[in-house]
Amino acid sequence: MKRYVVQTGDPVLREKCAEVRKFDGELFSLLDDMRETVRAENGAGLAAPQIGVPVRAVVIDVEEGYFELVNPRIVYEKGEQTGPEGCLSVKGKQGEVRRPEKVKAEYRDRNGRKHKLTASGFFARAVCHECDHLDGILYTDKADRIYDLPAEDK
Ligand code: CO
Repeated sequence: MKRYVVQTGDPVLREKCAEVRKFDGELFSLLDDMRETVRAENGAGLAAPQIGVPVRAVVIDVEEGYFELVNPRIVYEKGEQTGPEGCLSVKGKQGEVRRPEKVKAEYRDRNGRKHKLTASGFFARAVCHECDHLDGILYTDKADRIYDLPAEDK
């Protein structure tokens, strides 16, 4: 089910999210709802707190594929990139944000199995952005400059 994406100002976006401990049906429906929501909204990623559930789960939908990261942890960062970033919880705006060029992350899938991924470029940016959500951090906290998007991109 597509869920409502909470907007900046809602305190759930500022929570330090809880680790997922049960890899059960409740987690499956949360992740399924997140997939429907990120696709309906044409997002590159979505974190559980953005649909009002403060647990450590994110989805990322990029060229490299579709990823569900449960309890993700960035374990390695290299280099630097600066580029435009937006967020489904900050509608109509973008900002210039500095991120690592390359990251490695460890995470679990919906069945609790451990995985690692290596991401660079936009994919790395998405991993960093979504992991920040789990600690109550929005890109607007880090952006050098925030600007309104032209109306047709809203
Ligand atoms: Co976001």
